[in-house]
Amino acid sequence: TNKTFTMIKPDAVLDGHTGSIIKMIEAAGFRVVALKKTQLTPELAGKFYEVHKERPFYNNLCKYMSSGPIIPIILEKENAVADFRTLIGATNPANAEEGTIRKLYAKSMEANAIHGSDSDENAEIEGNFFFARTEQF
Ligand code: GTP
Ligand code: MG
Repeated sequence: TNKTFTMIKPDAVLDGHTGSIIKMIEAAGFRVVALKKTQLTPELAGKFYEVHKERPFYNNLCKYMSSGPIIPIILEKENAVADFRTLIGATNPANAEEGTIRKLYAKSMEANAIHGSDSDENAEIEGNFFFARTEQF
């Protein structure tokens, strides 16, 4: 598909970077298919990040991702998954390229401002985790 899924994470929402980040995303040629503001419970965060459940940072990640409101968004563009990961930059902001969203707004390896799906398959699963079919245009 030509879709990807993103979430603006609690640190970036709390710091008031939502508008700036969406502006960068649209300027890079992505079209918003679905968007809302919501807050995960620790249980829902655990379900979203189930693939990471064996990783040492899993519990902290679920706590952090449920600590405040997030902005989940489905995006559309040619080559969406790969191009979006280029736009956000490396997981660790210390390694993120100049001009990427994480270089500009991430605070740490965990509080790294934004999520980006890592495959077409996961983009589909993650988008459908937050949005009904009738909310995707
Ligand atoms: P996402 O787009 O959020 O999935 O990030 P990613 O694909 O660049 O990283 P990955 O899927 O490996 O990890 C998911 C999230 O877990 C990261 O974005 C971080 O918020 C967090 N994370 C990853 N590695 C670490 C770590 O070593 N320590 C901590 N505390 N958090 C981590
Ligand atoms: Mg990932």
